[in-house]
Amino acid sequence: MRLLDDEALERSSVVANNAMNRERGLDGVNSYARDLGLHPLDRLRPRLADHGAAAWLDLCCGQGRALAEAAGQAPDGLEIVGVDLVDHFDSRASALDGLTLVTASVAQWRPDRAFDLITCVHGLHYVGDKLGVLARALTWLSPGGTFAAHLDLASIQLADGTPATRLVRRLLREAGVAYDARRRVVTRTGPTVLDLPLEYAGADDQAGPNYTGQPAVDSYYRPLRTGTRPDPVPPPRRSVVVDDRGVHVVHGDAVVEPIPWEDVHYATVSRFVVEIAGVDHLELTIDLVYGHYVTVLDSDEGFGAAVAEFARRSGRPAPDLSCLDAGHDGVELWRQQF
Ligand SMILES: C[S@@+](CC[C@H](N)C(=O)[O-])C[C@H]1O[C@@H](n2cnc3c(N)ncnc32)[C@H](O)[C@@H]1O
Repeated sequence: MRLLDDEALERSSVVANNAMNRERGLDGVNSYARDLGLHPLDRLRPRLADHGAAAWLDLCCGQGRALAEAAGQAPDGLEIVGVDLVDHFDSRASALDGLTLVTASVAQWRPDRAFDLITCVHGLHYVGDKLGVLARALTWLSPGGTFAAHLDLASIQLADGTPATRLVRRLLREAGVAYDARRRVVTRTGPTVLDLPLEYAGADDQAGPNYTGQPAVDSYYRPLRTGTRPDPVPPPRRSVVVDDRGVHVVHGDAVVEPIPWEDVHYATVSRFVVEIAGVDHLELTIDLVYGHYVTVLDSDEGFGAAVAEFARRSGRPAPDLSCLDAGHDGVELWRQQF
């Protein structure tokens, strides 16, 4: 496959696409508050009250409508910066104090200050090096600042075509960056250095529609092996039980409260393969309604029984675990009906 560099990608009709929704407002039906699951002004007002000043950076801001609405409503002291590749900004924006809209690519643009809130609403879908932008933006947060950006992990692949969804989700979690799989939103409080063992290889603008229904860009990365592989250490003994009270995951002899059924969003079983790291195992992933998830490995006691019990509770046949491909989403076993 021919992978595009940033220059070619930014000329692509998928990125310069008129059908894109660039008009989200601050709140309401088609809005930042709704899609991110947080209201930007709720994050900024306490900062304004405490420090008399606050700053919001919105990457891939589209027309900047949400920013113009915030600038119109917020008390003095709020500075807002929006960045978009396309110079097609809301006509109200230029007259509003404290709002600066910049025409630039987030692949190159760098700020000269820190921000209390950084957002990117449905913007990374069109960016090549999504993880590079994410890593840079996380260093621009002020202490205690909030980061929230849509990121579709299904659009991240290893250079050999292996889906990197689970690998990236795990690496983010280990780096202290949360991922809400239901909203597909990455969040973080406070700045951090995100140093992932992945090197950007290029983008594919022919990947087709993503979960939003719009054609989007897939991003390819080469895994970097750093250091030497450690001697195998026996994993900590864990066991899992699924019963009427919920899901019990026990580490060693620890006694833990079960995860109640009302907190379980859905459960999937999948095969996780990272050839370069010698990893090949089955995983039961239990996504919780508040965005966290729990992973149980096939080496954990009770794995097969837990998979079968989830399937039984949704009236589905237990999957044939010997036939699972290393696909990114796995086989759904159970889902809560809201
Ligand atoms: C779906 S729109 C979302 C716009 C806005 N956040 C909203 O929700 O209304 C995606 C935006 O990303 C912008 N974009 C795509 N690639 C970009 C890049 N490399 N740098 C900056 N903006 C980019 C597009 O021009 C477009 O305005």
